[in-house]
Amino acid sequence: MTKYTVHHATNWSRSLIAAVSLAVLALAPAASGQDEPLMDGMGNLNTDVLNADSPAAALYRERCAECHDNPVGRVPPRASLRYRPAEGVYQALLAGGTMSPMAEGLTDDEIKSLVKLLTGREPAKIKDPIADRCASTPPPVVVRDGDWTSTHGDLQGHRFRKVPTLNAGSVNRLQLQWAYAYPGSAAGPVTVAGNTLFLAGTGYVVALSADSGCVRWAYPTNGRIVRAVTVAAVSGVDTQEGALPASVVLFGDDSGTVSALDASSGDKLWQSNVESHMQARITAAPTVYNGVVYVPISSMEDPLTHDSNYFCCSARGGVAAVALHTGELLWKQQHITAPLALLKPAPQEGTATDGAAPDFGHGGPQFRQGPAGASTYTPLTIDTWRGLVYASTAEEYGFTHLPGPYSVIAYDLKNGERAWQRSLLPDTAQRKRICSERETDCRNFFSMGTSVLVHPLSADKDVLVVGTKSGMVHALDPDHDGRVLWSTRVSDGGDLGGVMYALAADAEKIYVPISDVDSPTGRYTGSLLALDPASGAIVWRTPPPEPACNWDSSRRCIAGQVAALTVVSDTVFASFWDGYVRVYATGDGRQLTEIDTARQYQAVNGSASGGQVSGYPVTVVDDALYITSGASSIVKPGNALLVYTLDGE
Ligand code: HEC
Repeated sequence: MTKYTVHHATNWSRSLIAAVSLAVLALAPAASGQDEPLMDGMGNLNTDVLNADSPAAALYRERCAECHDNPVGRVPPRASLRYRPAEGVYQALLAGGTMSPMAEGLTDDEIKSLVKLLTGREPAKIKDPIADRCASTPPPVVVRDGDWTSTHGDLQGHRFRKVPTLNAGSVNRLQLQWAYAYPGSAAGPVTVAGNTLFLAGTGYVVALSADSGCVRWAYPTNGRIVRAVTVAAVSGVDTQEGALPASVVLFGDDSGTVSALDASSGDKLWQSNVESHMQARITAAPTVYNGVVYVPISSMEDPLTHDSNYFCCSARGGVAAVALHTGELLWKQQHITAPLALLKPAPQEGTATDGAAPDFGHGGPQFRQGPAGASTYTPLTIDTWRGLVYASTAEEYGFTHLPGPYSVIAYDLKNGERAWQRSLLPDTAQRKRICSERETDCRNFFSMGTSVLVHPLSADKDVLVVGTKSGMVHALDPDHDGRVLWSTRVSDGGDLGGVMYALAADAEKIYVPISDVDSPTGRYTGSLLALDPASGAIVWRTPPPEPACNWDSSRRCIAGQVAALTVVSDTVFASFWDGYVRVYATGDGRQLTEIDTARQYQAVNGSASGGQVSGYPVTVVDDALYITSGASSIVKPGNALLVYTLDGE
C-alpha cells in the first residue's frame, strides 16, 4: 500500500494501527472493518457505536466518526472519550468548546445524548465552588518573592526554584497535606501569589487559600476554556489610570480574549479580544513584563484540517501585546505574513502528492486556502536584556506543501517589530523521507514542542534552547539572529512529542522530558536527559520507567512525559502519562522517589480523582509543592489538585 495516497478511512486507520501497534500505543481501530477485533485499544469490548440503532449513534456516525474512529495526531480515539469526565465532553461540544463546530445546530438534548453515548453518562452539573467559600475574607493578594506567578515561574522559562529544605535528601519525606477537587475537570497548572492558589478548570477560574483550600472567589468561564492563569504585581508600574488593585489575574480563552481580574476579589477589570478569527484561541497563559501583557495566539482550526467540508485554513498564530492597566491593544503580529491565497484542491484518491508535506490520510478539505497555522501553544518568554519576546511556533498547516517557514521568532517588546526568525525544519527531501517513514500526517511533526528557554552561559552570553516534537533540542544564538549553536537528537519524536511543554534548567544543565508516546521503538519513552548548555552534549539519560497505570487500562498504559519539568534545588520533578510524578537527582539522574497521583482523594471539598499527569503540572513555593493531576489528559483525565509538603511542617 502506498503511504499517504490512500484516502479511504478504513485503510488509513489500518495502516496507522500497523504503525503504532509496533509501539506500546494501541489505538481503537475503525469499527466497520470485517476483521475488526473484539476488543478495542482501551481493552473495552467494541459495543458498536457505529452500528448501534439509536439517534445518538446516528449523530455520532454523521458528525464524529470520521475523525474519532480514525484517530491521528491529537484526535482522541473514540474509546478514550469514555475516560473523560462527561462534563468535559459536554463542554467541548457547547458554544466555545473545541468541538463546537462539529455540534453546530444540535439541541442540548441531542448533545447530552452524544455525551452519554461516548462517556456512559449524562454530564453532571459542574459543582459551584462558592459553596466552599472561606469563612472570613483573606487579606489582599500581594505578590511575594518566590511566588510562582506564571506557568514557568519566571520570565525566561527556567522552571527552577532553590528551596533550602526541599532537596535530594528530603524529597522522600514529602507528604500529601490536602487535595482539592476542581469543580469540573482540571485544565492546567496552579499559579501561586500572596498565599493564594489560582487554578483553571472546566467551568471556573478559582482562587483558593494556600493554607486550607477554602475558596476566595470563583469566576465562571461560561463555556470558555481557560487553561492557565498569570498573576501580575501592579506596584512599580506607572499608574496613570490609577484604579488597579495590587495584583491582577490574567488569562486567555478559546475565543481569543484576554481577561483581567482583581486577584483579591475576582472582580472583572477588563476584557480584550486580541484575535477575532472564529477558530482562534489562547492556549497558554500570558506573560507580563513592565506593565505589558504578552499573549500567545493559537487556533483550534487544527482538527478541521481533516474535515472535507471546511474551507481550510486561515487562522494564524501570533503575539499580541496589551496594556496591563486597560487591556488596550498595543501591537499585534501574525507569525505568517504572506497574504492568504486559494490553494490547489485536495488530490484525488490514488494520486501522488507532489510536495514536501504528504497529504492527509483521509482526504482533508476539498477547498483550501493558506498559508495558515504556526500557532503558539506555549507561553512566551522574555529577554529583558535584549528587549525581545520569543515565540516558538507549530508548523504551517501544510496544504501549501511547503515546510512551515518559522520555528522561533523574536519580536521587539516595545513595538512588535520582528527582530529575527529561525526555521528549525529539515529540508524538503529529508522531511518527506522522515514523514513517510513515520506515517504521520506531517502537519505537526516538526512543530516546536516547548517554549523558548533563555539560558545564561556566562555574564555576557545567553543561549536560547527549544525542544521539538520531532525529538530534537536546539540552541540558538540570540546575538546572531538565532543562528543555530548546537542541535542534539534526544528521542524518536512523534505527533505527541518528542519533547513537549517545557524544558527546565539550573545553572549547570538543561533538563529534557521525553514523551515519545507514539514512537515506533519506545526505546526513549519517558526518559529524562540532562544536557550541557554550552555544547548540547548529553550528560546523562535515565532509562524509560516501567509504566504503572493505576487504572483499568491493561493495554494503553504509557509512561511518556507529555509534560513540563520543574527543578527544585538538586531534584527534577518529572510527570508521566501513567499517573506518576517521578523525582530524579540533578547530579546523576538517579530516581529518588515517586508519587502515584492516579488515585481517589478525600479532598477538602469532596472527592477528587487523579489521572495522567500532563501539561505543566508541578509548581513550588517555599517548601510546598502543587501538583495538578489529570489536566490535558487523553486516556485518564482527572480533577485533583494535590498539595505536598515535608512531613512535620
Ligand atoms: C474533523 C475531525 C473531527 C470531528 C468531525 C470531530 N472531532 Fe472531536 N476532536 C478532533 C480533534 C483533532 C480533537 C483534538 C482537539 C485538540 O486537541 O485541540 C478533538 C477533540 C475532541 C474532544 C476533546 C475536547 C477537549 O476538550 O480536549 C471531544 C470530547 C470530542 N472531540 C468529541 C467530538 C464529538 C462528540 C464529535 C461529533 C459531534 C467530534 N468530536 C467530531 C477532531 C474531530
